[in-house]
Amino acid sequence: DKIHSKCRGQTYPRSDQKRLIIPDTKVKWSAPWPEYNPPEYSSPSLKGQAWADLEISEQFAPTFNQMERKDDHVVRNRVSYMGDYKVLNGYPINPVGRTGIKGRGLLGHWGPNHAADFIVTRWLRDRVNGKQILNEDSKKPILQFIGIQRRHGNEWAIPGGMVDAGEDPAHAAQREFLEEAMNSQELDPKNLEDLMETVQEMFDRGITVYQGYVDDPRNTDNAWMETTAINCHSEHGCLEHWQLQAGSDAKQVTWLEITSSLNLYASHINLIELVANHHKAHW
Ligand code: RP5
Ligand code: MG
Ligand code: MG
Repeated sequence: DKIHSKCRGQTYPRSDQKRLIIPDTKVKWSAPWPEYNPPEYSSPSLKGQAWADLEISEQFAPTFNQMERKDDHVVRNRVSYMGDYKVLNGYPINPVGRTGIKGRGLLGHWGPNHAADFIVTRWLRDRVNGKQILNEDSKKPILQFIGIQRRHGNEWAIPGGMVDAGEDPAHAAQREFLEEAMNSQELDPKNLEDLMETVQEMFDRGITVYQGYVDDPRNTDNAWMETTAINCHSEHGCLEHWQLQAGSDAKQVTWLEITSSLNLYASHINLIELVANHHKAHW
């Protein structure tokens, strides 16, 4: 099951907690498993964090499948891109299926945890004549995208991160891209302003390639990641005079060639495939 495998690993990330192993045939909640009772895990790192929910109790019983507002602004987006999800005994239920673990794990919110990913692409071109380079077998042009290496776990990934409370996913995608691939948190204000203008221009021509559930290793039966993935294709290299520099949660950044054999974090390879198909690029 391609969209529900990274969240069925043996050990939960950044912990010693074991998951109950779920056979492919038992992922769907509709597959009967009366004695199913996986271990419960919520990371101690969530305690006392303002951005995280509390443990569910009589005092803390959020209304799911709704935006939570305070004084007119959104404090939590509990709406899923997958439609209404079930809530059982006060706990939201993963819309895709069983993960072998209850609780929130490392995720701050019960139910959907919203992220945004920013996929910047360009054609791989011949350095001398500027022509697109074709893959020998498929005869299709090769795309590159800006990838980062995650500080946690070292996996290569699309730059991206969590949408802040009340933030627009498009804004989160740009912000995370600037932080992780351009080290914006260390830039001086004048350079940052220029850079933001370039990124904004590119962004205005961007397209949303996906909005929905993602197969993230942190997902549990009661908390999961959903993302908005935006592709900005730079036909004539508008970022070219900017130097890529890793920052924030990223320890390396580089242009990566797009092929189906890339090994990427969470379900990022599926997002990259959508982009390759969209541009009729080699895959
Ligand atoms: C992934 O988690 C999403 O696609 C997004 O890239 C990422 C967000 O989490 P952090 O980068 O903040 O860990 O599933
Ligand atoms: Mg980040
Ligand atoms: Mg990130």
